[in-house]
Amino acid sequence: MASVSVDEAMRRAVALATRGLGATSPNPIVGCVLLDADGEVVGEGFHAYAGGPHAEIVALAQAGRRARGGTAVVTLEPCDHTGRTGPCSHALIAAGVAHVVIAVPDPNPVASGGAATLRAAGIQVTLGVRAAEAGAGNVAWLTSMRRGWPYVIWKYAATLDGRSAAADGTSMWITSEAARTDVHALRGTVDAVLAGVGTVLADDPRLTARNLRDGTLAIRQPLRVVVDSSGRTPADARVRDGAARTWVATAAEVGAGPDGRVDLAALLAELHHRGVRAALLEGGPTLAGAFLAAGLVDRIVGYVAPKLLGAGPTALADAGVPTIADAIDLEITDVTPVGPDLRITALPRKREA
Ligand SMILES: NC(=O)c1ccc[n+]([C@@H]2O[C@H](COP(=O)([O-])OP(=O)(O)OC[C@H]3O[C@@H](n4cnc5c(N)ncnc54)[C@H](OP(=O)(O)O)[C@@H]3O)[C@@H](O)[C@H]2O)c1
Repeated sequence: MASVSVDEAMRRAVALATRGLGATSPNPIVGCVLLDADGEVVGEGFHAYAGGPHAEIVALAQAGRRARGGTAVVTLEPCDHTGRTGPCSHALIAAGVAHVVIAVPDPNPVASGGAATLRAAGIQVTLGVRAAEAGAGNVAWLTSMRRGWPYVIWKYAATLDGRSAAADGTSMWITSEAARTDVHALRGTVDAVLAGVGTVLADDPRLTARNLRDGTLAIRQPLRVVVDSSGRTPADARVRDGAARTWVATAAEVGAGPDGRVDLAALLAELHHRGVRAALLEGGPTLAGAFLAAGLVDRIVGYVAPKLLGAGPTALADAGVPTIADAIDLEITDVTPVGPDLRITALPRKREA
């Protein structure tokens, strides 16, 4: 086999890592390519699920003795601690690897230190190769580890004139089956789905990730979180069925903000503590407005249907914007047709302090 450059190997490692998307949390996605001393690929691996072998271990097992004197190309700094599996830094040292190339350092204080351990063992370590690409795949995990609360994606569905329901309250369905199927796929990539008690009382949603045609549940279900200051969620609400874990987060349990409602920052801190790295905020407009007003939304995914209603509630209620100069500016990063609808992805621009 022909030899490949370290840069090509990293590109491959980044692609391998994405195969674990949605299955590794609370761990990151990681990919690894092992080159022998001549630069030939002798092992490949990715982290497939939390508790399973790390990418480096899979690649080392494939390479066997051919790893000796070779180069390990890995998207995230190899871990340096014993969790459910042993430290990858030690496995790389034991395998006799000469060079370790890392895209992104590990911000997790518990697991970091792998690069230092490798260097101390006399192994050459190179950091930062294709860091932007590798970091993009792990953006939710990296963001949540650095700051201690989950990466929050606000998802909504609306008509072209921004309505989330008709004047009589009917809202099923604004968007197409294709768009709703896309939402279920999105739910499958996060650790928690959040809704306000207003949505639970109005729509009685299940908030599970499932096949819309036959109702089959996805293997991995996000935690369902109802943000419900005084515990108004009915005992027989669908969100309380046994299909997935549910947490009705009350102000008494989480803490209350100045308005007496659930303190959203405290809610996110608790979710992080429970292993949630990415959370999907599914509304409704009141809760979404409160999250946006507090600057707690990292990404917006809007499904916009080619329909007009002219009246009825809007997708977003008060978000703390009294005047046009205070509008929440967004950077649109993607526009993709989904069936007859458009999926628009945007990032809130950071406000000047
Ligand atoms: N188009 C869409 O994408 C979409 C998505 C979801 C829902 N909806 C629609 O939205 C409607 C419901 O709207 P909604 O605004 O009443 O629902 P909501 O935003 O889901 O729930 C609002 C409730 O959340 C509770 N809450 C707890 N802590 C809060 C905090 N810190 N800040 C703000 N709220 C907090 C409040 O009740 P307590 O104070 O009692 O806790 C509040 O009344 C439904 O008709 C539904 O169909 C549309």
